Amino acid sequence: SQPKVFVTRKIVQAGIDRLQNEFDVEIWEDATPPSRDVLLEKIRGCHGVLTMLSEKVDEEFIEAAGDQLKVISQYAVGYNNIDVEAAKKRGIAVGNTPGVLTNATADMAFALLIAAARRLIEGDQYIHNGKWKSWEPLGHIGWDLEGKTVGIVGLGRIGETFAKRCYGGWGMKVLYSSRSPKPEAEQKLSAERVEFEELLERSDFVSVHCDMNEETKGMFNAAAFERMKNDAIFINTARGGIHVQPDLVQALKTGQIGAAGLDVTDPEPPSLNDEILQLSNCLIAPHIGSATTSTRNAMAEIAIDNLALGIDGKPLRCSVT
Ligand code: GLV
Ligand code: GLV
Repeated sequence: SQPKVFVTRKIVQAGIDRLQNEFDVEIWEDATPPSRDVLLEKIRGCHGVLTMLSEKVDEEFIEAAGDQLKVISQYAVGYNNIDVEAAKKRGIAVGNTPGVLTNATADMAFALLIAAARRLIEGDQYIHNGKWKSWEPLGHIGWDLEGKTVGIVGLGRIGETFAKRCYGGWGMKVLYSSRSPKPEAEQKLSAERVEFEELLERSDFVSVHCDMNEETKGMFNAAAFERMKNDAIFINTARGGIHVQPDLVQALKTGQIGAAGLDVTDPEPPSLNDEILQLSNCLIAPHIGSATTSTRNAMAEIAIDNLALGIDGKPLRCSVT
């Protein structure tokens, strides 16, 4: 019989076709994730599970699945929702989907930057709300991008690709902070590695591209926003937990920084009474960095390869361990 697999959300059709071919698969069809109880019930007896960021994969999850579980295949590059150590201890492989979403996510960061700088969403709402009467010499005035200084926190694949767009397309000066130096990027992009504090002070735009871990969680707090320029634009396409959301709201409200563009919030979705939704200088996308057709197809291929290989006890195509 075919190995048993649970998939926590519907994915692209090509992926579903393949899953149905290769496994005894159950796919959660709802638009929202299964409740915890239902999830723990559904994964019982599975050899592999295909998970999203919305699932907390911890000891309890692994125990609920049972001893036959061989692989947890995450449909994302980030896996801060997974207790990798707990999986490792039991010999369960953990996979993710790096590389294929790099361009799409860097593009999203840039889209947010331009949209925030040119107040695009505000303008769109202005028209839709019937407020636009005439061309306005003083209306909706924003920021230039050309030649500005951009500060990139975390110069991994996505950070470097975003930097490439900033440097090559808009002639920006690139600053970055990261655990290790990136000599190649320094060469190609004239990028300069600086301490986090210096990056905050010197940058016109600050974009987050690190993963979320104990070190980076909450690193954009009141003190960090205070160091930034008063007209700085803050972009986060990484994880909402990297900024302290109430501190960001304060910084935007008091004019400590100029604007923000977020593809991630804390929590997701933001609660409807979160003040962040009241601010005209903060635009928010529903965590869609990887949401292009080719990217989501490529993610499905990797995630299903990871499932199949993990169930066969072979090394994954992309393993996080
Ligand atoms: C999305 O946030 C991902 O990590 O792929
Ligand atoms: C993710 O792909 C990264 O390393 O930036």
